[in-house]
Amino acid sequence: MCGIFGIVTQSKDLPVAKLIREGLQRLEYRGYDSAGIVMISDHKLHLKKDAGRINDINAKLHFDEMPGLIGMGHTRWATHGPPIAKNAHPHLDCTGKIAVIHNGILENFQQLRKELSARGHIFKSDTDTEAVSHLVEELIKKGLNLREAALEAIKCCEGAFGLVICAADHPDSIIVARRESPLVIGIDKARGAIYAASDIPAFLPLTRTALILNDNEMAELKPDQVDIYDLLTDKPVKRDSYEVEWSIDAAEKGGYPYFMLKELHEVPAKVKAQIHIPQSDIDAFAKAIIGASHFYITAAGTAYHACLAGKALFARFAKIFVKPILCSEFRDELRDCMKPNSVVIAVSQSGETLDTLEAVRYAREKYNAKVCSVVNVVGSSLTRYSDHVIITTAGPEIAVASQKAYNTQVSALCLIALRIAELQGQMPVDVSQKYREALNGVPAVLEKIRTEHEQKIKKLAEKYAKKPNFYFLARGASVAAAAEGALKFKEISYSHTEAYAAGESKHGPIALIVKDFPVIFVAPPDDTYERLIGNIMEMKARGATIIATVAEYDEKITELATDTIRIPHPKDEYYVNLSPLMYTYPLQIFAYYAAVHNGHDPDKPRNLAKSVTVK
Ligand code: F6R
Repeated sequence: MCGIFGIVTQSKDLPVAKLIREGLQRLEYRGYDSAGIVMISDHKLHLKKDAGRINDINAKLHFDEMPGLIGMGHTRWATHGPPIAKNAHPHLDCTGKIAVIHNGILENFQQLRKELSARGHIFKSDTDTEAVSHLVEELIKKGLNLREAALEAIKCCEGAFGLVICAADHPDSIIVARRESPLVIGIDKARGAIYAASDIPAFLPLTRTALILNDNEMAELKPDQVDIYDLLTDKPVKRDSYEVEWSIDAAEKGGYPYFMLKELHEVPAKVKAQIHIPQSDIDAFAKAIIGASHFYITAAGTAYHACLAGKALFARFAKIFVKPILCSEFRDELRDCMKPNSVVIAVSQSGETLDTLEAVRYAREKYNAKVCSVVNVVGSSLTRYSDHVIITTAGPEIAVASQKAYNTQVSALCLIALRIAELQGQMPVDVSQKYREALNGVPAVLEKIRTEHEQKIKKLAEKYAKKPNFYFLARGASVAAAAEGALKFKEISYSHTEAYAAGESKHGPIALIVKDFPVIFVAPPDDTYERLIGNIMEMKARGATIIATVAEYDEKITELATDTIRIPHPKDEYYVNLSPLMYTYPLQIFAYYAAVHNGHDPDKPRNLAKSVTVK
């Protein structure tokens, strides 16, 4: 949450303010309540900031015209103080010579504000962040240089932060520091520039050479040099750079109206890539799980729905019961009852979701659990807390509402479940061979949904887009698809949606059913199919409109439904048992077109942001 992007260079040809503005736009998925940029030029800070989205602010304030070769910008997801101009970052000190941008929450901000106000500092915002600029001001007045002052100021701060600090009187460098909030450094030898950003897409079109800053580290960035220090010991730290594998155009819309549509169209190719990751990665992960006695799987939001699919696939193939736990509930749910020799599978797109990190830390530190993660971002915090990692092949996901990441997460979990079954000899070789063939065929099914069914799904979405309420119902392995379909629709199209296990719907939810209430059933022809028909009949009897996601060859449920979304997979039990990999995608497309039809920006849903780094 909150996007940070700073640049340090000596190259006079670089349009630094423009590059910062463009980088911030690529980070807008992290928050879009307000934005601002500060530049150092002529030993002065030049600041522009306002509430709203970067494009609108830029049209008014013209960020690109700001002078200077060193600067930093911020796009905000409001925590402390409403999303108004005065709370937009950067925040200055009393002298107007020190600027700070911040992602995270300073837990002791009230105390700091009180103490600094008592010492005569005037606060201009309601934020926690502003305290840091006043602290640095005091320390610089005492004779410390910018890095020393930043270090001492950070020692006074409790909580989570990705911080970038610059000062007019120290015009050759900026200071960055992190604890529990992401920060990554980009090294652009070709342009003679160093970047600091909360996520790689900020600088992806400029460089693919990156340096990871770990928790409790700070760095001084100069145009041709990065010096990293441990925040706790102040000792220098050596760190090698690495090459980011994501393609440069992944952070651009490439002619699509929205990132979400571009990313939805990438799903078949990304799932194909996931299915073909090196066997050694899967084996190491599978063996770590086989060695454990108790199994948990944890995540938030969409990634949690991938866990629900994972649970079903593990039970179906590996015959292992994996308990899904929302990461924000992990500690409370397992208080004093996690068993020895447990493994926790954590699933995350960003690898920075604070609740997920806290869950795995709790499991590791208190119970010595093994942590195996399915993560999209190389070098993210979760990868560093994990014993084994599978990197998903989604590439950068810029739309706030996750979709291609989900499809790759479920594919990765399916690969692991199948591999465990193979390694444990639970599946005859010919059966496993059949599953492998079907798995290899899944991307073609997804591709067919995209090329041949998308327009039909769009029409359907437009037909139902204005409905205020929906139920998404399913049984067994498809409950994950129902949950994800409901979440996607809710978060980008703003209708009230709820997902239930279909059998549970008669225990309360059915009370809401009146004539024409839309109920979406996820109905692959698996062993839940006949029982699901009973639930469809119950809803129909009360006037509900039935929309069903069914196999292309389906007849029975098709007869009962008003509308269907058809999944073009072969009539083959192996494909049917892989339904969690195919039945969610059309519901994501359905949500996208409903949102667009309702006039909403699906890339930036109201009140949401990606990479939730607050508790
Ligand atoms: C919903 C969505 C969120 C994330 C959740 C976890 O579309 O994107 O629910 O799935 O915040 O984020 P990661 O996967 O980054 O841990």
